[in-house]
Amino acid sequence: MPRVLVLNGPNLQRLGTREPDVYGTASLDDVASALAAAAPGGVEVDVRQTDDEAELIGWLHEAADSRSPVVLNPAAFTHYSYALHDAVRVVTTAGVPVVEVHLTNPAARGAFRRESVVSPVATGVIAGFGVDGYLLALDWVGKHLTAAG
Ligand code: DQA
Repeated sequence: MPRVLVLNGPNLQRLGTREPDVYGTASLDDVASALAAAAPGGVEVDVRQTDDEAELIGWLHEAADSRSPVVLNPAAFTHYSYALHDAVRVVTTAGVPVVEVHLTNPAARGAFRRESVVSPVATGVIAGFGVDGYLLALDWVGKHLTAAG
């Protein structure tokens, strides 16, 4: 069964209670339920979260090896992790898409959030649409899976 990895970086297990005025009131479980409900038939959606850069990089290597498309919210790693940049490059240069997602629009926030070291190697970026961003990313990935047969 084709599988989409939805990978979430640090502090995103706190969704729903972490700065709800900024990130909204939906929890990561709510995000996972919405994605499961929206997944195209026959597509498994595997939602994971870690605060550990090494674990996130290992999951990206797994995605490259298993050819599983990725929806990635790198959270704060977005702004400084060159190791994550390199790992995303491993996936996308293998021809496997990585859609970078942010709940907020980091470009409209504080100075350090304006740079993403992930975007230059991601397939595309969706930012500023809250939980809908994950659903938009899954919609695109679903079409890619269909197109890839
Ligand atoms: C975020 C934006 C990042 O700047 C921040 O560090 C996060 C969440 C977002 O989804 O809007 O943790 O990736």
